[in-house]
Amino acid sequence: MLAKRKILLCVSGGIAVYKAVALVSKLSQAGAEVKVIMTESARQFVQPLTFQVMSRNDVFYDTFDEKDSSVIAHIDLADWADLIIVAPATANVIGKLANGIGDDMVTTTLLAATAPIWIAPAMNVHMYNHPAVKRNIAQLHDDGIRFIEPSEGFLACGYVGKGRLEEPEKITELVTGFLSREQLLKGKKVVVTAGPTRERIDPVRFLTNFSSGKMGYAMAEAAAELGAETILISGPVSLPVPSGVKRISVESAEEMFQAVKAEFETSDFVIKTAAVADYRPKTLHDRKMKKQEGDSSIELERTTDILQYLGSEKSSQVLIGFAAETNDVSHYAKSKLERKNADYIIANDVTEAQAGFESDTNRVTVYGKQEFEKAFELLPKQELARELLKLIAEREMRNDR
Ligand code: PMT
Repeated sequence: MLAKRKILLCVSGGIAVYKAVALVSKLSQAGAEVKVIMTESARQFVQPLTFQVMSRNDVFYDTFDEKDSSVIAHIDLADWADLIIVAPATANVIGKLANGIGDDMVTTTLLAATAPIWIAPAMNVHMYNHPAVKRNIAQLHDDGIRFIEPSEGFLACGYVGKGRLEEPEKITELVTGFLSREQLLKGKKVVVTAGPTRERIDPVRFLTNFSSGKMGYAMAEAAAELGAETILISGPVSLPVPSGVKRISVESAEEMFQAVKAEFETSDFVIKTAAVADYRPKTLHDRKMKKQEGDSSIELERTTDILQYLGSEKSSQVLIGFAAETNDVSHYAKSKLERKNADYIIANDVTEAQAGFESDTNRVTVYGKQEFEKAFELLPKQELARELLKLIAEREMRNDR
């Protein structure tokens, strides 16, 4: 299943290095060509010879030991790989990569890499939960690095908890699934917006809506899985960044507009899943508004309709909007398709149970130009997102965009 795929395994120093040996074996059995780089600490646990024998390739561990004078080893290895796995990944190697430090063969290669990187951490449970380690992992998530979460169980240090390197079989299964997925959007840039916006009234209050970001994050995840360079412009939600996705966090409709505008020209697909506020308070009070006797009102002004703006500016970009409707779904969706000059509108009836805002599932109908219409059954948002992206990517490839 991994025939002819080139996998670079970066091994850093922890007791789980022994599992990395089994990982080389599993990857090789699946048909991959594997090369191994070790940190100095990894060499304290297992000799390079073990990895050399298992991979049938030279093992690299010294940045200055250039085995082939016609190339620079860490650049050459970074360019060679279809996919890079860091396993086990220590807090140290995670911290260095998150902060752009390249001071050995593993970290210089990782910094030079453009291939997808998968990190499989393994460490003591308290180390894994340390705020600095969590910060570094969050940073790498934001940089588009994929993580294979450690599993729970007995740790070599005597603790029981989360920190065990995931089993080699499972890592092999994950990367096999990733590499064998049709990379329909390889070489394409996809911008996804997700979540709600917040329109501030005063320092303690804002207008918003019920969007959880689940649908938009699922769309971004699906785009990354199909090989796209994926930018997720997200309103305030509490979801982790999907693997392989770069997140830009925004708060208001205006901030979302500016962020989308900055990415628009270089993008191939823009997917507007966000529930953007149509109105914001006309006045932003710099002090908390005090309650008074009797009723009160807030004057609102229109925000920019981002989708409509993009529709008027687009050249070759494929523009995909969502429509959250409570009635006459088909009528309103078709009218948005027309008015906003979108290529597709994905409509959901947000009054339906298990669909629309906040739920883990959704039911949508896609409307496109030339009367295109396709209804989907109720599906988990992640599965639905994959189906939607596949449908649109295949249709657009046929249109030879
Ligand atoms: O986040 P979840 O909890 O998973 O919920 C998912 C969802 C219900 C939010 C999602 O499936 C959805 O329907 N998103 C669109 C919500 C929406 O704002 O619909 P709309 O019909 O008001 O807007 C139509 C389109 O115009 C949308 O693509 C919207 O992003 C865009 N728009 C709207 C207003 C505005 N000022 N600028 C915009 O770009």
